Amino acid sequence: MKLNILLLTTLLSTTLILAIDTNTTTSREMSVKQEGVKYIKLLGGTLKSELQTYMKADKTGLSAMGFCTAKADEITKEVNKKLPAYASVRRTALKTRNENNLPDALDIKVINDYKASIAANTFMPTDIKVVQEGTTTRVYKPLVTQNVCLKCHGTNISKEIQGEITANYPKDKAVGFKEGSLRGIIVSEIKKY
Ligand code: HEC
Repeated sequence: MKLNILLLTTLLSTTLILAIDTNTTTSREMSVKQEGVKYIKLLGGTLKSELQTYMKADKTGLSAMGFCTAKADEITKEVNKKLPAYASVRRTALKTRNENNLPDALDIKVINDYKASIAANTFMPTDIKVVQEGTTTRVYKPLVTQNVCLKCHGTNISKEIQGEITANYPKDKAVGFKEGSLRGIIVSEIKKY
């Protein structure tokens, strides 16, 4: 009888510890995800609102092209300066235009996962992926090609814009995208947790 009680208490406390453990993991994942998404929105939102302003002012897309070429790196740096020292945010893709945006091995794996889910029709544009890498947690958000992106990343790019692309990015790979395909990702890296 004594032994049974002992067994039972041991079992109960193990379950309790397991339960606590699962809870902390979940809330930790939740908070790191939320924090990463906040930084992703900061970079994505800043770039997108600027892009939209230039696209509205000049429908050919040439002014917007000038803006992206001249300012995207600078804005990315400015946004990163506003983040806590343990965090960063950047954009990347399998096919890049700007050589400062090359993907690393983990980026490539996540991008391929997104592409596979697009191919399998299970993709959700809201699918945020949280990936642990050593002491760093990465939070990924997919960037789907929209109609507005096609002027500079599509299959039917104007001569003027293509001229700018070739002049500024001789090794450009970021063309030939179709609406709905994956253009790239935004990733936030967080070392806090
Ligand atoms: C007016 C032209 C233009 C439009 C429209 C445009 N881009 Fe770009 N994009 C660029 C240029 C130029 C770069 C390279 C400079 C930079 O942003 O780093 C770039 C870079 C990128 C990058 C970073 C990876 C890389 O290739 O260097 C991503 C991701 C991206 N664009 C996604 C998009 C998406 C998604 C849209 C539509 C919502 C879009 N772009 C619309 C011109 C454009």
